[in-house]
Amino acid sequence: MTDSISVKIDDTETIVPSGTLVVDAAKRLGTDVPVFCYHPKMDPVGMCRMCLVEVGTPMRDRDTGELVLQENGEQTIAWMPQLQTACTVSVTPGMQVRTNSSRVTDARKDVLEFLLTSHPLDCPVCDKGGECSLQDLTMQHGPGTSRFLFEEKMLLDKRVPLGDLIYLDQERCIQCARCTRFQEEIVDDPVIGFDQRGRALQIVTFSEPGFDSYFSGNTTDICPVGALTTTDFRFGARPWELQHSASICPHCSVGCNLHLNTRRSGVDGGWAVKRIMPRQNEQVNELWICDKGRFGHHFATSPDRLTVPLVRKDNKLIESTWDEALEIVAKEIQAANGAVSGLVSDRLSNEDLFYFRRLVQGAGGNVAQWPGQMGGGDLVQQVGVGVGTRLSQVGTGTVILVVACDLEEEAPISWLRVKQAATKTGATLDKGKCTLVVANARQTKIDRYASHKLRYSCGDEVRTVLGLAHAIAGDRAGVEASIAGQINNPGLGDLSQSVAEAGRSIATAENLIVLYGREGLDCDGSTALAQACANLLIVTGHIGKPNNGLVPIWPHNNTQGSWDMGVYPSRQSLAQFVSEAKVIVLAGSDPLGDGDKLPSEAFKVAIELFRTPTSEGADVILPAQAFTEREGTYTNGERRVQRFYPAMPAMGQARADWQIFAQIGERLDIGKCPRSAAEVMLDIGQEVPQYSGITYQKLSQVEHQWPDVGGQNIYYGGTAFYNSTGLGIQYPTLAEQGDTIDLAAVEPSAPYTGDLIAVPTTVLYDRGTTLISSSVMHSRLPEPNVQLNAADAAKLNVADGDMVALAINGHESSLVACISDYAPEGLALVPQSLGGPVLPCSQPVILKRID
Ligand code: SF4
Ligand code: SF4
Ligand code: FES
Repeated sequence: MTDSISVKIDDTETIVPSGTLVVDAAKRLGTDVPVFCYHPKMDPVGMCRMCLVEVGTPMRDRDTGELVLQENGEQTIAWMPQLQTACTVSVTPGMQVRTNSSRVTDARKDVLEFLLTSHPLDCPVCDKGGECSLQDLTMQHGPGTSRFLFEEKMLLDKRVPLGDLIYLDQERCIQCARCTRFQEEIVDDPVIGFDQRGRALQIVTFSEPGFDSYFSGNTTDICPVGALTTTDFRFGARPWELQHSASICPHCSVGCNLHLNTRRSGVDGGWAVKRIMPRQNEQVNELWICDKGRFGHHFATSPDRLTVPLVRKDNKLIESTWDEALEIVAKEIQAANGAVSGLVSDRLSNEDLFYFRRLVQGAGGNVAQWPGQMGGGDLVQQVGVGVGTRLSQVGTGTVILVVACDLEEEAPISWLRVKQAATKTGATLDKGKCTLVVANARQTKIDRYASHKLRYSCGDEVRTVLGLAHAIAGDRAGVEASIAGQINNPGLGDLSQSVAEAGRSIATAENLIVLYGREGLDCDGSTALAQACANLLIVTGHIGKPNNGLVPIWPHNNTQGSWDMGVYPSRQSLAQFVSEAKVIVLAGSDPLGDGDKLPSEAFKVAIELFRTPTSEGADVILPAQAFTEREGTYTNGERRVQRFYPAMPAMGQARADWQIFAQIGERLDIGKCPRSAAEVMLDIGQEVPQYSGITYQKLSQVEHQWPDVGGQNIYYGGTAFYNSTGLGIQYPTLAEQGDTIDLAAVEPSAPYTGDLIAVPTTVLYDRGTTLISSSVMHSRLPEPNVQLNAADAAKLNVADGDMVALAINGHESSLVACISDYAPEGLALVPQSLGGPVLPCSQPVILKRID
């Protein structure tokens, strides 16, 4: 346990944990010591000298070591002759600190005067104007005049692209190294750094493409001046003109808390999202978001959005009224007499999914998550990570097992937090490193931090987890039997040995968190893997408590919510699922775009944001609202239900999906249409036990978070927003509620055979609808490609950049070949959602160079 010690800051006594930096001790007391280079999430460097304070410690007699007391009995304080940097000095017992003496305020004036000697003072046109630490601190502590000559200011480049997403204004940089330290310490993408020396020191990028990191936007939040700005926001608006709304990222299953800044255009009056910023939630995303979350919002305001209902007349889709369109749909559903199938995306909100199921099942039909890519949502409800789990707090004694996923590509902020737990970087991690076990058929970036790497043969995911269970029980023969026949990866040693060693780590672990994905697996395969992982947690007793349990790396933002609302992937093929349907209701689901077919004779209604291959063939299209235009909730992979709020008026006549389903249902006497999303949540609470008692009011509650950032004082933590709108509610698992959770048998699938197996992989930057509308991202979106090992490429006579034909099940696709270390011999990695072939799971392929 950390000792607590007493210190006095500006005559106020406080108790803080031993080792606390003076700057943080003062902050906890409500005293803001000005800083530039210090950031509470990073190790201190003491570069800018802005945080100078007077520090004194109790004087001791040199001979006796006893405290020297004054006549009145108080300790005599020995004040250090020089001012100290509050960001590098840790508190000691009895320490006294002066943060506002005349020596301190004089020193601050000097530091600011010196910093401003090489600053352009273009506040009136600077994007950071209004939320700039230098501006604020100069107003509060600055000298008012300068002894330096204006003519001698350094003139430097003001528009230096550090990549496609971030610009550097060289004149504005105050050389605090927050950005470079973030990239090294927090992200481990050291792609920017300092070049030159003295006043010529400049930030440069070393990567190709420039600033090649999924987290680059965060540097613009923590840059204390306007030196770093995003391409998206640069010269786009002034901070004080912006409207503020809280939101949740609509992309991956991490569920990062966002803050949307919107403004009406001065030209046409239209609303635009000017920028997306992180909103602090220490249990989800801390202060960070990835660049997909930050820049991938333009789909919501795309001019291609559907804005009016369309109905098919004379084989043409023509504009209609809501009343007419809803009436047509209701009549068709009624006439179908129960022969109704509903296909819905796991991107929709809980409210939408609940009312979708209520409508379709109320009409006697069947519903499915489509495409249902991954199983195990029921197991997450049983043995998901315990309430209060904090990846940033786990340390020695905790094992994190990551299996069958490429964490950085699929859930970037989870990657960041697992990486931090395994490397103990960043100032807030003081509990030692956890042990990371990574199991995958191929190398991924998280391997760098793994204590144990288990490289199984493609298709042997479940067998490898079963092998771990044997290893934990000390059953070496069982380990050998589980992984018999698996190919051991060169350079990683004997697989059974690695499994045995990883098993020994897990056997002695105090906590075990298992993150499982679906790489290479279909829905059945990932269901079996989820069960194998759940069994591992159950037999080792790592369920029902914080920092233990299962975390799914879901394909989308609300896959868990979809399971919770009773909308699961179907075990049937699409043709079987809709075989009886006279009406098919599709919400955010595009089976034709995914290469499937729908029966031409069925009446189809599509609820969509955009025209898609599927909606083009629909009989009625109903325009849905984007996440920016409405409220609702998503449930993340750690079962945290989180609320998002409307940030702008709806485009055209678009309506919230739940409202559309409820309005159709009202016409069919399935129930009354609620007046608000909050009312839908009350309905959900009545039917879904886990959501009982969850209300919009409770979802918007907050509690004090540390570090204390984003308030008036932006110089301490940057411009990540203070969370005043809700931390969400993580509902407890059945194991936490005391239910007995039984093991279930798992049948491993047959291993894949073939000279070359194509493995579908996920890439963060894809060409899906939600990203393709963000033109700032275009240069970062890869072409459809296949990644090959150099040995396989040589065998096939393929060079990097060649066009190749990939034949799967008789279908051929043209792709660019990329030679990659991440592809092991015998596997061809095929990133999905880039416009290449849709692969539901790994399968043998034939690949040929196109001459
Ligand atoms: Fe600091 Fe910004 Fe310069 Fe980076 S660019 S060193 S964050 S002032
Ligand atoms: Fe959005 Fe996922 Fe990125 Fe967070 S990590 S900002 S949820 S895409
Ligand atoms: Fe302490 Fe920079 S030296 S904030």
